Amino acid sequence: MHSFINQKNAANMARRLALVALPTLLILSPATGGGGVQAEPIVPAVISFGDSTTDVGNNNYLPGAVFKANYVPYGVNYDGHEPTGRFSDGKIVTDITAESLGFESSSPPYLSPDASGKSLLTGANFASAASSYLDDTAAMYDAITLTQQLKYYEEYQSKLAAVAGRRRARAILSGALYVVSTGTGDFIQNYYHNASLSRRYNVDQYCDLLVGAFSGFANKLYRMGARRIGVTSMPPLGCLPATIRLYGEGGRRGGCVERLNGDAENFNRKLNATVEALARRHSDLKIAIFDIYTPLRDLSEAPATQGFSEATKTCCRTGTAKTRVYLCNPAMAGMCRNASDFVYFDGVHPSEAANVVIADSMISAGISLVT
Ligand SMILES: *[C@@H]1O[C@H](CO)[C@@H](O)[C@H](O)[C@H]1NC(C)=O
Ligand SMILES: *[C@@H]1O[C@H](CO)[C@@H](O)[C@H](O)[C@H]1NC(C)=O
Ligand SMILES: *[C@@H]1O[C@H](CO)[C@@H](O)[C@H](O)[C@H]1NC(C)=O
Repeated sequence: MHSFINQKNAANMARRLALVALPTLLILSPATGGGGVQAEPIVPAVISFGDSTTDVGNNNYLPGAVFKANYVPYGVNYDGHEPTGRFSDGKIVTDITAESLGFESSSPPYLSPDASGKSLLTGANFASAASSYLDDTAAMYDAITLTQQLKYYEEYQSKLAAVAGRRRARAILSGALYVVSTGTGDFIQNYYHNASLSRRYNVDQYCDLLVGAFSGFANKLYRMGARRIGVTSMPPLGCLPATIRLYGEGGRRGGCVERLNGDAENFNRKLNATVEALARRHSDLKIAIFDIYTPLRDLSEAPATQGFSEATKTCCRTGTAKTRVYLCNPAMAGMCRNASDFVYFDGVHPSEAANVVIADSMISAGISLVT
């Protein structure tokens, strides 16, 4: 156990060093005058789109949303120890990367009353749990579709101009980091149990459809002013506790479902080609993939090397009904003794401790976007 803790501490230390080094590297600019290094964010704003991997509480404002994290034990390790709508015991990757970039915290959910006035200056978060590349998938769960997220973004642009003035708003929007993190739902909440879809498309064609949707979305963002876009890769779909339970050979006790991981790898190869094509097409666009597949896969295969003791079981108790194996069971508040020992907090979402590991790898991938 001691070596676990030491390794985890070492990882945290490395992260802190990286965080200190990043802004220092960038802010040796005239902006700081003679007054030394200032803890100023290295991008003016972060603007997030996607699903529960980035949703900081938008779904709490949607009466019909099927997936909400507005009950215990979600948020037990977050500031205030209360559920906020984040799908984890504590911080999600969005929070950790925002802090790493020098912000005090991540932007409030766009649908909350807090997303107004000065808070708009540092970005906005449009993500909605169960949203996906395909609007049909999102609509099945009454989540905010990507199409609607883009409409909100357009509305945000005018609100920002009202607060900051047109010229400054334009600078914020072109300097901002745009994060797109979604797609898991298109497989696990749709394709894998939707016979009409799997009859119409084989996996390869379905992946083409999804990366095509991403490409269309990224082009629209570009036309609306985005110049730095990071997109997450598909996570190892076959290593999620929920998919191991639903599709694994050995049920709960089995390892990762290789067939599903193969689908994620297929998607990721196509995403790579799509991102490279976007970069060639727009010479003034910085675009990169935040690889979450590799760190999550490594955590699933060798959790102990990074200080975790459990990678296939969930920390909270999930439900048993088909759509409920994904989330903590609201009727059973119990949870594991220490969420930091678990890679997954619920059936699909990592614990805060695992989110720290994922964010580390995103930060190193994202350096090209912010420098
Ligand atoms: C199957 O997928 C299509 C397209 O995404 C969707 O319109 C339909 O509602 C889905 N059906 C079921 C049973 O999930
Ligand atoms: C695509 O894959 C190649 C080979 O692994 C890699 O060198 C390149 O950086 C990747 N492109 C992106 C945009 O991630
Ligand atoms: C939980 O585990 C982590 C390391 O895995 C350790 O640092 C922490 O002290 C533990 N917390 C409690 C309350 O046992």
